[in-house]
This record gives sequence, C-alpha cells and structure tokens, in this order.
Amino acid sequence: MSSLQAPRGTFDVLPADAAQRTVLEQHARRILGAAGYGRIETPTYEATELFARGVGEATDIVQKEMYSFDDGGGRSMTLRPEGTAPVCRAYLEHGMHKLPQPVKLWYLSSFFRAEAPQKGRFRQFWQVGAEAIGAAGPETDAELIILLADVLRAVGVKDTHLRLSSLGTAETRREYREELAAYLHAHEDGLSPEVISRIDLNPMRAFDADDRRTKETMRNAPILLDRLAPEDAEHFERVKVLLDEAGVSYELDPTLVRGLDYYARTLWEFTSSSLGAQSALGGGGRYDGLIEQLGGPPTPGVGWAAGIERMLLAAGEQPVPVNVVDLFVAIAARDSTEAHQAGFKLANAARQAGLSAQLELAGRGLKGQLKHADRLGARYVAIIGDPMQISLKDMEAGDQTEIAPEAVIPTILRGSRVA
Ligand code: HAM
Repeated sequence: MSSLQAPRGTFDVLPADAAQRTVLEQHARRILGAAGYGRIETPTYEATELFARGVGEATDIVQKEMYSFDDGGGRSMTLRPEGTAPVCRAYLEHGMHKLPQPVKLWYLSSFFRAEAPQKGRFRQFWQVGAEAIGAAGPETDAELIILLADVLRAVGVKDTHLRLSSLGTAETRREYREELAAYLHAHEDGLSPEVISRIDLNPMRAFDADDRRTKETMRNAPILLDRLAPEDAEHFERVKVLLDEAGVSYELDPTLVRGLDYYARTLWEFTSSSLGAQSALGGGGRYDGLIEQLGGPPTPGVGWAAGIERMLLAAGEQPVPVNVVDLFVAIAARDSTEAHQAGFKLANAARQAGLSAQLELAGRGLKGQLKHADRLGARYVAIIGDPMQISLKDMEAGDQTEIAPEAVIPTILRGSRVA
C-alpha cells in the first residue's frame, strides 16, 4: 500500500457513498427546481478580498480558517470557505440585477475551512445551498426556511430542530452592540478571557461561549430581539406567521449567532440531536447589506446552506436505487479475437439501445464470468463462443437459448422488466 493518503480532514467519495449523494442531489434539484431556483456554480477559489469583505474580517472563518495562496502574480486567492459571497459576486459581475427579481439560485459544491477535523467537521466538505437575491419581503425568508425543511425531510434527516431569530438591521445592531459591549465591559469579572478579548471585535460571540461563568453572565445580558426597530420586528413577525401557517415548528433563540458577519434580519439554523458536537445541519439568513458591501447597489438577499456530510450522517442508511445490469457479455472462446470483437460490439450496441451492459474485462474463465454476472445482478448473460452463435442466458429463469447476434438486443428489450 502506498504511504500517500488523502490530506487530513478530507475524504474520498467512493462509489458506495456516491449513490447516497446522488439521491440527495436529486432531492435538492427537485425541491429547489420546483420553487424556481436555478443551478449556479462559482469557481473553487476567489480573491481573498471577497471573503474578507463579504464574510467579515472579524469572523473565525476569515481570521483562522481560510486556505489562502498567492496566484503566482502577487494576488491573494482563497479556496472558498462558503458560497454566499461568491454567488453575490457573480450576481453583480453578470448584471443579474437587470433580470426580473428575485434571482433564485442554488448550488451543490465543496468548500474549504482550516478547522480541526472531527466527526462531521472536515477541511473540505460539501454544501447544498440556495440564495434568493432581490426580494425583501418575509415570504422569501419563509419560503427558503420551508425549502430547507423540505430538503432535510426528503433526505431522511431525523430529529431536526429549527432555531430562529432576527438580527434587525445594521443600524439597530450597531446600537445594540454598543449596549452589549458596555454590559460585557461592566461584567468582565464574570467572563472568560477569550470573550473579553473579543468584546470590541464581536460582542455577540459572547452568547456562543461554552464557559459556565460566561453563560451565567450572559443570562442577564440585553437581547437584540427586544431592541428591533418597528419595521424589523414587523418583518420578523410576518416570517413567524408564515412558518406557523405552514406548520413548521421552531424555537425562538435570541442568542443564535452564526459565524458570518453579513446577516441582517432573519437568521436560522437547523440542528439534529443525532449528530453530536457538530449538530448544525444547515442554516442561513437574510443578508440585505452584502451586495452593497461588495460594491453593488443596495440589494436584499436571503439564503441558506446545509452540510451534505452532516445531512447524510443524520439520515443514516437510506435506500438507494439498485444499479440494474441488463446484460453481461461473457467470452467463452477466450483465445478468439473474433469472439472478443463480437463481445465488444454487442456491449456497445446494447448501450446504444439504452440497455445497461457490461463486458468481461478481467480475463476470467467462463465459470468465473457467470459468477461475476450473478454478483452484478445481470438479468441476461450473452455467452460468446462462435461469434455467429450467441447463447443468451436468462439469469432469473435459468434457461439458455442459442440465438443470432442481431436477435440479442431485441430479445432483451422484449423481456424488459416493468420498472
Ligand atoms: P455555515 O453555517 O457556515 O453557513 O455552513 C452551513 C453548513 O455547512 C453548516 O451548518 C454545516 O452543516 C456545514 N459545514 C460548515 N462547516 C463545515 C465543516 N468544516 N465540515 C463539515 N460541514 C461543515 C454558510 O456557509 C452560509 N454561506 C449559509 C448561507 C447561505 N447564508 C445565507 N446564504
């Protein structure tokens, strides 16, 4: 065995795992496509500045978790740690503000964060995400939350829990942050050194702290939800009503913080108790200031992303469609070039006719080939000895008939199982 291994925190997707992922992708495409979301894919890396400006200088992602490199021309590039800033960059770059609004986009891509690997946390991971840009109304927020709930349900994720909050607008938050920072400074003796060191950078993170003393202190801290401006409170109220009407249950969590700075107004996260420490399945929120932050006109936006590995972990074993093999082409006359050629031709022709067909490629003996065909679950085996005479074996019925080469495919097509 080679000593070369996949880098720490990364993984290979082998065919057995790929089947589950394909099913997940199909659910996402169906659910998001039906709501008018179009697929978008952006480059794997972007200018570092995009994330510094978009995600926020003060975030853990930008401060500690970015894989940045020089592009060879003195420009700093970064492997994308998330998808929202790149999608907004693409929205601006391609003038999508001129399209009928909102522009609804979804993606399924891999992302990179230099985090300590553990169960459900990787350095390269995959997300499915959805963004609606250009719509400010609460229906968009509620629509997106419901779509994420739909994806989680379709994928078979168990024990989900939705936490919901609102951050208000940047201005409310600025005032609130000052109030919160003042509270934190006044109670520094009840806070952990890490929280104290972040008070002026990002006081909201204090709600996130695990340390018991800090948690105690935060119990009496001012709450942003109580400080929302009337129009933000009204917007949030309407999001809640729409979710209530749709029968989506949630828990209001005014201390909900997410590790990205672009959020304004609605904020949410789905967790699953079956996940352990990395319990966040996916989350999102409104980011009405982000496009402006990136140099565009004031444009509302809202969206979410969910971790594919975490969804699959929380879903557990799910049925995947079996790969039907209609035909296995076995070569009885192993030394006959004509037999090999005829077999090759038959397998190709079968595929052209829409059948799933495999050809013996490993040089097995006939007995081994039949065993292999059985292992694959092949419905028919065409045994080629004399290229002009093919034995077609119906693996289910067990009977074997000699037929002309050109009769093989029509026979299989006629005998097609009703799916
Ligand atoms: P996020 O919460 O940073 O949001 O990531 C979304 C999801 O990606 C997480 O809930 C988690 O399931 C998964 N995830 C994040 N980091 C890792 C990791 N290291 N290993 C495995 N899975 C991970 C965003 O990325 C925002 N762009 C979501 C958004 C879209 N907000 C608005 N629009």
